[in-house]
Amino acid sequence: MADYSSSNYNDFPRGFGNELSPTWRDAIKNDKRQPPEILTNESSEFVGGGKLDPDRYTSYEFHRREVEKLWRRTWQPTCREEEIPNVGDHFVYNVANLSFLIVRTAPDAFKAYWNVCLHRGRQLVDEPGKGATKFRCGYHAWSWNIEGELIFYPGAWDFPDIKPETCSLREVKVGTWAGFVFINPDKNAIELSEHLGSLPQHFERWPLEKRRGLFHVRKTINANWKIAMEAFMESYHVMATHPELIEMSADHAAQLDYWDEGAAHFSRMMNPVGVPSQYFKGGTREHALAVTWAIANDIRHDALTGLPPEITDRSSLAEWRRKQLQEATGADHSSLSDAEILDGIEYWLFPNFLPWFGESFPILYIFRPNADRPDTCYMDVWLTSRVSDTEPRPEAPAIIELGPEDSFQKAVGTLGLVLDQDDFNMPKVQVGLHSWPGDPEGLTLARYQESRIRHFHKVLMGVLNGA
Ligand code: FES
Ligand SMILES: [Fe+2]
Repeated sequence: MADYSSSNYNDFPRGFGNELSPTWRDAIKNDKRQPPEILTNESSEFVGGGKLDPDRYTSYEFHRREVEKLWRRTWQPTCREEEIPNVGDHFVYNVANLSFLIVRTAPDAFKAYWNVCLHRGRQLVDEPGKGATKFRCGYHAWSWNIEGELIFYPGAWDFPDIKPETCSLREVKVGTWAGFVFINPDKNAIELSEHLGSLPQHFERWPLEKRRGLFHVRKTINANWKIAMEAFMESYHVMATHPELIEMSADHAAQLDYWDEGAAHFSRMMNPVGVPSQYFKGGTREHALAVTWAIANDIRHDALTGLPPEITDRSSLAEWRRKQLQEATGADHSSLSDAEILDGIEYWLFPNFLPWFGESFPILYIFRPNADRPDTCYMDVWLTSRVSDTEPRPEAPAIIELGPEDSFQKAVGTLGLVLDQDDFNMPKVQVGLHSWPGDPEGLTLARYQESRIRHFHKVLMGVLNGA
């Protein structure tokens, strides 16, 4: 498909603001506590144009390519470390039609295996569990210890070619970052550190491993995993999908950045909060600050009467919120800039991990296909909060499983309303894409505001077309 041909594509506008509704870069200018350099460093250039082929979301063949070239070969986050806090605790991670078993083998060590019995191939472990000393197949009782060594197979006399030392569970690579256990099924894969590149430096100031899950929801969505994920990679949809958010967030004015560091690919979006969107008619700074304050206090929009007198700008709002967070968690938030307290800052790590950054919206998302089909996926969502500097990370909350028709809001309250609004579009996009007329030849993406999606597809196609 045709690429854009302008010779000066790197001169394109990066967000559009004015005095009332500034871009992120302008919104932070008067902040008393300035963001660190790691946030103010820009990294964006034109990442390619052209249309997106709808087959990428609907075709079984494309889905199979993803399974073979992506999911069997890439680093992917599975569970939080605190979901398997004790030796023998284990987690079953399924992606597309692949299944893996992750187990804590020592207080500070994890192993992961292909979750398959090496006798006749039953899935070895069906569900996550606690404190196992062995994994016993339900079909004929072959058993392995948590280190993956074969310790029992009935009627050993009848298996002359089985030697326990060559029949260990088949391992996959394991690494940890940000409080997550990552795996890579490809035993020849690069190390996790190479996959992450400099991303961990961005999170040094706001460590995800020092956070607890307040809730963890897993929802099955009747849409391709990329449709679901891409709904969170731009803020261009906010004015139509979340109209109440434009009163306090300049959705049109996000800053977008991308990094390609060898095998490491990640991106970032930063939306100014406490300022109105240009799409909100009659917006004022005072109203935007008041709505931001009300949301932090869980005050209903229609019950909002005004602001405490000490809150007059972004910095005084951030200071008030900093103290509120400190009291609620016992953790020191004094080093965080106003932007890190207020703004919507979201990172993405290839292929499927979206960790938000900062205290405005401390959420984590992971997306993956849930079956051998292109039109269904899992979305995992965590809301997190900082643990105090002296407290160990508590055990993870139980996973709340939601089906395609279930509401996030019913499960987790107010925040779920926004997720329900996003989720409402996803199956309808899937339906629409199956009916794509072929002309135009594909989906159109905004040059800048949807450029993180362009960047993702560029990386994805590089991986799928690779050797
Ligand atoms: S398939 Fe597992 S013991 Fe037979
Ligand atoms: Fe959204």
